[in-house]
Amino acid sequence: MVEFNLPKNSKVKKGKTYKAKDGAKNTRRFQVYRYDEDTGENPRVDTYEVDMDSCGPMVLDALIKIKDEIDPTLTFRRSCREGVCGSCAMNVDGTNELACIKDLNEIKGDVKVYPLPHMPVLKDLVPDLTHAYAQYASVQPWVQADTPAPGKERLQSPEERAKLDGLWECVLCFCCTTSCPSYWGNSDRYLGPATLLQSFRWIADSRDENTGERLDNLEDPFRLYRCHTIMNCTNTCPKSLNPGKAIGETKKLLAQRR
Ligand code: SF4
Ligand code: F3S
Ligand code: FES
Repeated sequence: MVEFNLPKNSKVKKGKTYKAKDGAKNTRRFQVYRYDEDTGENPRVDTYEVDMDSCGPMVLDALIKIKDEIDPTLTFRRSCREGVCGSCAMNVDGTNELACIKDLNEIKGDVKVYPLPHMPVLKDLVPDLTHAYAQYASVQPWVQADTPAPGKERLQSPEERAKLDGLWECVLCFCCTTSCPSYWGNSDRYLGPATLLQSFRWIADSRDENTGERLDNLEDPFRLYRCHTIMNCTNTCPKSLNPGKAIGETKKLLAQRR
């Protein structure tokens, strides 16, 4: 039986409360996970009261306002602020989300913001994705073809190109991977849904000539088959993609060649 042991110093303490400025009439409370390994202290949850009359509509708008106006030490990743870079993935109100496209109006009561679950935390809301990216690199996410290109480009028919829809849109945020119970227990070898969706994106690409070897690399009992079709991944994806289906299609291809 698998035993989970919490690391030392993992108990989350109550942190500081930052009151809104006098005169703010429309305030909302944000409870935000804080952790800084360098201090040697336990993680804590700080509470920030934010004046919503001068705040944008998304969770990321509130975090940026907190950092700019209340507490510059708060640390999180963000870049595009429109759901295409994947960097602002975090757990909001109990669900993995892209903070920049998560509307505050969809959340009732206090807004609880934590890092993506079951990943080591570097600081505050920033998870260490080193292992997840190494797993992504292991599926060799680029077109591989020995046949010389017939012209400047390797062309696809509209039908071949359409097979990549629902795959190319993935922003590699790892919201799906960190929602997968199977990944929580087996992340040392199980690739997880984000990387497996990306893997299928290259298997499905008509220009790629390495399909056989790509499938060979997934025969390992851990890399793919630790997926037990739990489907948290698909239910969680903030881009409405279906990694569970991509994994199912990959398993089907493997079964067909036996
Ligand atoms: Fe993020 Fe969705 Fe891609 Fe998973 S499939 S990494 S949740 S965009
Ligand atoms: Fe996990 Fe999704 Fe499979 S939640 S078990 S990867 S269907
Ligand atoms: Fe780029 Fe949120 S900031 S996806």
